Amino acid sequence: TEFDLAVRGGTVVTAASKMTCDVGIKDGEIVALAKQLGPAARDIDAAGKLVLPGGIEGHCHIEQKSSSGLMTSDDFKSATISAAFGGNTTVIPFAAQHRGDSLRKTVEDYHACAAPKSVIDYAYHLIVSDPTPEVLGQELPALIKDGFTSFKVYMTYDALRLDDRQMLEVLSTARREGALVMVHAENHEMIRWLTEKLVDRNNVEPKYHAVSHSRLGESEATHRAIALAQLVDTPLLIVHVSSEEATSEIRKAQDQGLKIYGETCPQYLFLTVEDLDKQGMEGAKFCCSPPPRDVQAQEAVWRGLQNGTFQVFSSDHSPYSFDEKGKLSAGPNPPFPKIANGVPGIELRMPLLFSEGVRKGRIDIHKFVEVTSTNVARLYGLFPRKGTIAIGADADLAIWDPDLERTVRYADLHDLAGYTPYEGKKITGWPTTVVNRGRIVVSENTLQVEPGSGEFLARESSEFAAPLGQLAPETDPARNFGAQIL
Ligand code: URP
Ligand code: ZN
Ligand code: ZN
Ligand code: ZN
Repeated sequence: TEFDLAVRGGTVVTAASKMTCDVGIKDGEIVALAKQLGPAARDIDAAGKLVLPGGIEGHCHIEQKSSSGLMTSDDFKSATISAAFGGNTTVIPFAAQHRGDSLRKTVEDYHACAAPKSVIDYAYHLIVSDPTPEVLGQELPALIKDGFTSFKVYMTYDALRLDDRQMLEVLSTARREGALVMVHAENHEMIRWLTEKLVDRNNVEPKYHAVSHSRLGESEATHRAIALAQLVDTPLLIVHVSSEEATSEIRKAQDQGLKIYGETCPQYLFLTVEDLDKQGMEGAKFCCSPPPRDVQAQEAVWRGLQNGTFQVFSSDHSPYSFDEKGKLSAGPNPPFPKIANGVPGIELRMPLLFSEGVRKGRIDIHKFVEVTSTNVARLYGLFPRKGTIAIGADADLAIWDPDLERTVRYADLHDLAGYTPYEGKKITGWPTTVVNRGRIVVSENTLQVEPGSGEFLARESSEFAAPLGQLAPETDPARNFGAQIL
């Protein structure tokens, strides 16, 4: 036979096109796109279904210790299975450096966890928390050359945060080496000060977490991160944007022509601070940073997706169980500063956006594909091998039934957080068959592959990471009396 697998008669959608045709797959790649292809060893009937590029989850925390030393509830097996059932074929979690550790050792440790367990393809972003001259001068450049072409830095959390001078060092290193920098932008001292005031007055319930992580703290740090990036002419991605104010900062920078990118997440479209104010400790299930805000913020974030302020939509899956191993590790009634930050969401990221976005007419199907797959691949150096349906691309497909209605129940999900923030929500449109490099990973509601069958992806330099070439007056030798700064 000509093909190993043929997906027949579906509506094949990319970020830019839509056509009803067959997809012919051989040796893990897409080799033909046409009506009524010849025989294949195996067929999938996709009539009446959507055939989309597999989702790429570009922001998730797997087998990662929180800043207070707590392990996420998911390992690479449960997280990648959950991702696959949610229509993903690639995940890019973080390899998080702890201060004093070598970056190379960090990556090797994560690799030892991921390689035997992943059911879909994977790569890692680095988290740089200790930018010593050795790390920035040798380790990071070598790792970037080995295909770890993006990394995240934090402006808050004691164990992770960089100061502004360190941010500049890291950004200028990224510029030189061709890596994409992602930033967690919140003002550390504003969080600390508000937290102290709240705790002093015994305002310690989960809802006060949202008070301590203010909108102003988010937008100030966003503005500052953008200024730091602009000074050294380095592109920058602001991750997990929650508020209208931070969205505006990003938009303003983009309107000036700067290469500033934005990411938002389901928790900022579908949750609000009211969720943190639920009965007893229930609110702890919704504590993440930045926190969910209000309906007005949700609308601003929707607009940001619609108008292209946000290039990507990620889950920020950070699963901590609602018990003494997770959210309640500091006791049954922890004050908010002792509640692990993060919400699960790797399996529902795309169904939620499909149902509330595409089905309800807020975004079209092409935008959906763009922010959940194509742009993720482009941002992180995986395009066009990943993120689209084209001849020569990996055969990474998610076949969606756009009319399938299901009510979210944690019991039907595959992660190990033990709860979902979206319990009871009605969702229309679900992936039913998921194919990664030609392997059927999920079909008939069943996992079809073994742990360890996912592949590590060494990545190219991001096409989004090339400097604009527009130096600030003070870093431009033509305007700073000839000083060589970058
Ligand atoms: O609350 C969150 N988002 N926890 C995960 C870590 C991070 O900052 O992305
Ligand atoms: Zn973060
Ligand atoms: Zn500003
Ligand atoms: Zn995160």
